[in-house]
Amino acid sequence: SFSEAEVQSARGAWEKMYVDAEDNGTTVLVRMFTEHPDTKSYFTHFKGMDSAEEMKQSDQVRGHGKRVFTAINDMVQHLDNSEAFLGILNPLGKKHATQLKIDPKNFRIICDIILQLMEEKFGGDCKASFEKVTNEICTHLNNVYK
Ligand code: HEM
Repeated sequence: SFSEAEVQSARGAWEKMYVDAEDNGTTVLVRMFTEHPDTKSYFTHFKGMDSAEEMKQSDQVRGHGKRVFTAINDMVQHLDNSEAFLGILNPLGKKHATQLKIDPKNFRIICDIILQLMEEKFGGDCKASFEKVTNEICTHLNNVYK
């Protein structure tokens, strides 16, 4: 669980990312798709996935980037309440495990890209403040598969 100070600094760090949720969410997805092309196999119903330039313009990628960031934002609002935090995370994990059948190794990949973007845009302190959140997200998403 998170101390009050950790909650505050994680929220502050995330707010900086979330003001541009669609753009930053899209950047994260485009990096995942280009640096780990096997992740595109889950999105065969998305059109225009052949180049990073196309993906950045895709309404489907942009919409999904926004959706992923909205889900993380909902979790970040409940860092001080693990029941509520897991209440968001567990059903999402179940969906990714059973319906979407996502290989769980990909959760660490997307979380590392989020942290990398935070560091690039807002510096190492911002990244450091959010690492525990991504660790929690990855741990719980992986636990759903056990
Ligand atoms: C769908 C969040 C990681 C693949 C979704 C949805 C959300 C979400 C909120 C929509 C769920 C719904 O419609 O009920 C997240 C979060 C992640 C994550 C917070 C990690 C931090 C991943 C990863 C992959 C993935 C790593 C694959 C590499 C998908 C796919 C869909 C989906 C294929 C369905 C998309 C569609 O058909 O529109 N995700 N996701 N997700 N996610 Fe994730």
